[in-house]
Amino acid sequence: MRRVFLTGATGYVGKRFVADWDASRFGELTCLVRGEGPSSKGVISVVGDLANPSSYADALAGNDTVIHMAAVTGKARQRDYASVNVEGTGALVAAAESCGVRRFLFVSSIAAGFANQRYYHYARSKVDAEAFVRGSSLDWLIIRPTMILGAGAPVLKALAKLAGLPIVPVFGNGQAMVEPIAVQDVVRGLFKALELDEFNRKSWDLGGPERLTIEELMLRLRRVCHGKSARVLHLPAGLIAPPLALAEKVMLPFLPFTAGQMESFMQDSVCRENPLLSSLLQDAIGLDAMLESDAGV
Ligand SMILES: NC(=O)c1ccc[n+]([C@@H]2O[C@H](COP(=O)([O-])OP(=O)(O)OC[C@H]3O[C@@H](n4cnc5c(N)ncnc54)[C@H](OP(=O)(O)O)[C@@H]3O)[C@@H](O)[C@H]2O)c1
Repeated sequence: MRRVFLTGATGYVGKRFVADWDASRFGELTCLVRGEGPSSKGVISVVGDLANPSSYADALAGNDTVIHMAAVTGKARQRDYASVNVEGTGALVAAAESCGVRRFLFVSSIAAGFANQRYYHYARSKVDAEAFVRGSSLDWLIIRPTMILGAGAPVLKALAKLAGLPIVPVFGNGQAMVEPIAVQDVVRGLFKALELDEFNRKSWDLGGPERLTIEELMLRLRRVCHGKSARVLHLPAGLIAPPLALAEKVMLPFLPFTAGQMESFMQDSVCRENPLLSSLLQDAIGLDAMLESDAGV
């Protein structure tokens, strides 16, 4: 039986992870939460904040594994990505080392491998967070999921809205490759990883069963959610990104998306082969099922 310390339990993936947690198979789960947290058989919540290690140090001690998935995601300021994703991860790694936790599973992002991260502060924060994990003395595993879809997925809601416009906007030439994965399969992957005896300091990408272009994904979403086809408008993302990045500095709350988020749809999000991915793909949820699962439109 394990004793696992989880961050991010109240987020999109974390809620699913906790809901599927089987205490009789895995043992005790302690969740670091900022407000109200889950409580069920084998699951307890401890109130604290990544920014304040003393708020969780006692709860961390005695666990054998950390699963760290808390992060600032979506549209946010550069300094918030840095303070939570980078400094918060650094502090958690240091706390885990000093209280004798052996294994550390960090949920990063496929975006950490993007060649161009100029405007993508989130991706850069994941790279810097990974550096803390890689540089630690812990037995670590880094999981880099691609776009995570499923009922209520924020990214699915946002894309479905765009796909419902009279003409579907696509950033750039629409040829960037994506491999969306169902949230249930991400959680299944995390559980499979948890069953490993050793993590052995690996970095594994996690994606879904289908590889397609972002334009194909938008048109598929259009058909599934809105039942009809549409024309596509290619937006010159390279021209839009610099002024958008400038505008973010003063009017971020009023912008529909950031330059980084836009550019993320112009770079390939495809997985390198690894044993965890191969074992998941055997019975992974298909793309149409992910898209049909209540896109919220
Ligand atoms: N969703 C995707 O498509 C996707 C794709 C690739 C990788 N990922 C990665 O997968 C992980 C989970 O993603 P998600 O979609 O579930 O994220 P999410 O819904 O945005 O949830 C973020 C979680 O982090 C917590 N958190 C934020 N700041 C914190 C702080 N200072 N201290 C403690 N907890 C804090 C939030 O707590 P509150 O509820 O209190 O705000 C929430 O539980 C993230 O690391 C993300 O980068 C996600």
